[in-house]
Amino acid sequence: MDINQLKKAAADEAAKFVEDGMMLGLGTGSTVFYLVEAVAKRVREENLHITTVSTSSRTAKQASDLGIKVIDINDAPTLDLTIDGADEIDEHFQGIKGGGAAHLLEKIVAINSKRNIWIVDQSKMVKTLGAFPLPLEVIPFGSEKVYQRLAAENLHPEFRLTEDGQRVRTHNKNFVIDLHVGTIEHPHILADWLDHQTGIVEHGLFLDLVNQVVIGKESGVEIINAPR
Ligand code: 5RP
Repeated sequence: MDINQLKKAAADEAAKFVEDGMMLGLGTGSTVFYLVEAVAKRVREENLHITTVSTSSRTAKQASDLGIKVIDINDAPTLDLTIDGADEIDEHFQGIKGGGAAHLLEKIVAINSKRNIWIVDQSKMVKTLGAFPLPLEVIPFGSEKVYQRLAAENLHPEFRLTEDGQRVRTHNKNFVIDLHVGTIEHPHILADWLDHQTGIVEHGLFLDLVNQVVIGKESGVEIINAPR
C-alpha cells in the first residue's frame, strides 16, 4: 500500500476523536494535511463548532481555507486535544519531531494541550530513537559556536539546507541543525543536555508527551495508548 494511503488512514481515524465544542491543536506535515481535510469534512457535514490553534502558517492556511476557525494560541484557553504527526516513535512512546522544522511551535502547542495524539504510518514506529536525524532550532547569532560544541560532543551536527543550498529558516527565522546520532539510548539525558545549551531554542525530542498513537498499517489502523 502507498505510504500516503497509510497516513490518510491514520488521519481519518484520528479525526473521529474531535468533538463538538473542542479547542483543538493542529500539527504540521503531510499526515496532518489529511487530518485537516478530515476534520473540515466533519465540521461541514456534522456542523461541529470547533476552534483550532495551528503549529505552522501552512496548516493555518489550509484549515482556514477549509472553513475551520483558527485563532492565536495566546488567545486560546488550554487546548482539549492536539493531533500531530511524528518522525519516529519508540516503544516507550518517546518521539522525534521537527522533520518539517516546526518542532518549536509544535512543542509549545503540545505542552499546552490536555491530550496529545500522534498520527503516523507504520514506518515511523521504531525500537530506539535516532535513525531519524534529531532537529534543533538554533538562533543564528553564534550558531557556528553551537555547531562546534555539538560536534565536540560527537553529535554529528549538520545545518539543514534548502534545495538551493541556503540554510533553512524556521517560522521564527532561526536555523535548523540536525543531529545524526544513529541511536539515542538515553533520550532524557540527551534532552536535558540540549535544554541547557545556550543558543538552542528547542530540540525535537518530545518526551512523555503523547497519550495515544494512531498508526496506519498495511493490516489496518491500530490505536495504542501510552501509559500516562
Ligand atoms: C514537522 C513535524 C511533523 O509532524 C513530522 O515531520 C511528520 O511529518 P509527516 O507527517 O509529513 O511525515 O514534526 O516539524
